[in-house]
Amino acid sequence: MQGNGSMTLIAQISDLHVQIPGKLAYGVVDTNSLVAEAIARLSRLNPQPDIVVASGDLIQDGTLAEYELLKVMLAPLQCPIYLMPGNHDHRDHLRQVFDTHTYLPDESDHLSYVVEGYPMRLVMLDTIIPGKGGGCADTERLIWLEQQLLAAPQTPTMLFMHHPPFATGIPWMDRKRFQGHGALAALIRQHPQVKRISCGHLHRTIYCPWAGTVASSQPSLVHQSALDFTPDSSSQFVMEPPAYQLHVWTDETLVSHTLYVGQFDGPYRFVDGKKVVAARL
Ligand SMILES: [Fe+2]
Repeated sequence: MQGNGSMTLIAQISDLHVQIPGKLAYGVVDTNSLVAEAIARLSRLNPQPDIVVASGDLIQDGTLAEYELLKVMLAPLQCPIYLMPGNHDHRDHLRQVFDTHTYLPDESDHLSYVVEGYPMRLVMLDTIIPGKGGGCADTERLIWLEQQLLAAPQTPTMLFMHHPPFATGIPWMDRKRFQGHGALAALIRQHPQVKRISCGHLHRTIYCPWAGTVASSQPSLVHQSALDFTPDSSSQFVMEPPAYQLHVWTDETLVSHTLYVGQFDGPYRFVDGKKVVAARL
């Protein structure tokens, strides 16, 4: 199933917040056009990713109409895409519209699943609490996760979750701490095959050591959260560039690259000391 020689390329897009046409996030952000541009750029990547992971907040209000629109918007992607729910998502509506995505469990309350067949194993843990903004790993999900990790202790693994389990140091982000982070950390420490925990939700690129591995949150595909360490800060968005990440597994290590979405001059290369414009990416 691997299409990139000894590498496995995993593109991760997060927090798309697709909406009914004409609606703007916060009355300002045209999320749909930004998602469309990102998908177009992702479709032109050479080589193509082996897998695309969409790590939650796929849509804004959880309606069937939004998921139908999302389905159309994702259609240009040629590589397999794996969808995860975030706090803006509606599990049943997601399942209903993406009924051909047979990796989504039919009967479980949580949409957790495992992607196998690649050198790197992907474990997708649904962390949502319906009706709430924050996330959790409750007993049921911790048991499920332990079973999955025990099934392949020697296989390098990425754990994807919508909600990051770590504290960021940004006061407003940390007011809703991930429920069950201590138990989750204890479990992860027993499984060194987990090379990364990669999340969404925060709309900001953040990395930290956590539970013996590296944990991170992804940039959003549409708008970012403002960096504000003041104690009484509150949630603010900022139009820093939309971005996604490309994770590269090389049988030795996992490296992540950030790709910004937008129109930028270049890339330039140099021939006989002269600047030459290469084909636009
Ligand atoms: Fe989000």
